Amino acid sequence: MRELLDELLILAKAASKRAYAPYSGYHVGSAVMTAERKVYTGCNVENASYSLTICAERNAVFKAISEGYQDIIAIAIYVDSDRLFPPCGACRQVLAEFNPKMEIVYANQNEAIYNTLDILLPGAFSL
Ligand code: THU
Repeated sequence: MRELLDELLILAKAASKRAYAPYSGYHVGSAVMTAERKVYTGCNVENASYSLTICAERNAVFKAISEGYQDIIAIAIYVDSDRLFPPCGACRQVLAEFNPKMEIVYANQNEAIYNTLDILLPGAFSL
């Protein structure tokens, strides 16, 4: 799984270069992998009306879902910064919808943190 996450991280880093982030300046990229080994990438897309911004993670997840792949097994997130960007609470809940035990790596220019969603979002809401 580490190798897979590290490959996803390379794609997430490439996706971060496509971020539209004129307001925060933080360029975030993400890549998800499905059980069928399909990969979808996303970046953050900001808006002058700030709350309309979409995070890189949800962008990638929604691409996978809209292409017909719901069984997401792993996600990588990269921010081109010396800060770390663990997935925000809203993104954690969206990720949990599709796999509460998803494998996660989030990384910045200096380090990578490996985790699972059930650790990052205990007690996720579900119906
Ligand atoms: N952002 C993400 O893309 N993912 C996260 O999990 C946290 C935040 C983006 C949203 C916004 O464009 C910028 O980072 C600063 O919040």
